[in-house]
Amino acid sequence: MQRPSLSKDGEGLLRGEWAIKLAAQSRMQRPKGRMMIDDTDFTGRHVLVVGGSSGIGNGIAHAFRERGATVHVWGTRPRAEDYDPAEGSDLSGLGYTCVDVGDPDAIAAAPFPASSLDVLVLCQGTVVYKRGEFAREGWDKVMAVNLDSVMHCSMKFRPQLAESSGSIIVVSSISGLKANIGNPAYAASKAGAISLTKTLGQALASEGIRVNGLAPGLVDTKLTKVTTAHPQRLEGALASIPQRRMGTPADMAGAAIFLASPLASYVTGHTLVVDGGLSL
Ligand SMILES: NC(=O)c1ccc[n+]([C@@H]2O[C@H](COP(=O)([O-])OP(=O)(O)OC[C@H]3O[C@@H](n4cnc5c(N)ncnc54)[C@H](OP(=O)(O)O)[C@@H]3O)[C@@H](O)[C@H]2O)c1
Repeated sequence: MQRPSLSKDGEGLLRGEWAIKLAAQSRMQRPKGRMMIDDTDFTGRHVLVVGGSSGIGNGIAHAFRERGATVHVWGTRPRAEDYDPAEGSDLSGLGYTCVDVGDPDAIAAAPFPASSLDVLVLCQGTVVYKRGEFAREGWDKVMAVNLDSVMHCSMKFRPQLAESSGSIIVVSSISGLKANIGNPAYAASKAGAISLTKTLGQALASEGIRVNGLAPGLVDTKLTKVTTAHPQRLEGALASIPQRRMGTPADMAGAAIFLASPLASYVTGHTLVVDGGLSL
């Protein structure tokens, strides 16, 4: 005869009864013959991350690779060996090509990384500090990299993405949602990227291509060292983030994986804000 004992759910069930109850619950939750589906398994898929050589893009690239995809990245340095993991650039397990996306001809001439493409992540980005974006050179550079190249890369890979019913993910910024006193080109280019995400989502839907975006808040990368490596500025920035921490490349990757997955199959033209509440 079993002795009564308090079970984990506090109902005072006998241990044997508890086990039977758990087994019955498990049977109810897992109907016979049904396989578990992993919607975030990208095995056999090809992913290109433009701007995948560093920071957020590098984190997104590895998130797809860890989920089975073959991943290629583009960056600005001549060779993969020129990047250092200690600086947020781990290129192990990734294909690499140097393409200056600030030059439309370089995008046009760039080799296709694979015969097919399922996901195109556009994570390239630059900024000019010290009011350099108020001058023509700074303005042109930022607009070319942050906005024009999003269009050019999307059009280059459009046939491949239509072939695979693939998707595009545009990494913009919450700076595109508001004013940014020192960086007019950065803010305007990101607002443009959010707008372009909507229009491309609408225009390419009939070809089976979904176009979505994510808008990061503050993530510690080489782009944001001006804030993150400055204790007082960082303290001020953290105080304005409701979650009281910076985002990580892995936080951004979670949103990218969702948007590229079948879980988001009816989502297009949308930019997901991933900022710990900073823009609220
Ligand atoms: N970090 C943040 O807090 C934050 C917030 C909002 C939005 N974002 C956006 O997130 C994206 C990634 O930025 P990040 O913070 O991860 O900075 P990052 O580490 O500097 O990464 C920027 C990426 O863009 C590439 N890139 C820059 N100029 C390029 C060019 N002319 N041609 C080709 N590639 C170029 C860089 O290549 P190299 O590695 O060769 O330099 C790098 O791979 C950007 O679009 C940025 O605007 C970042």
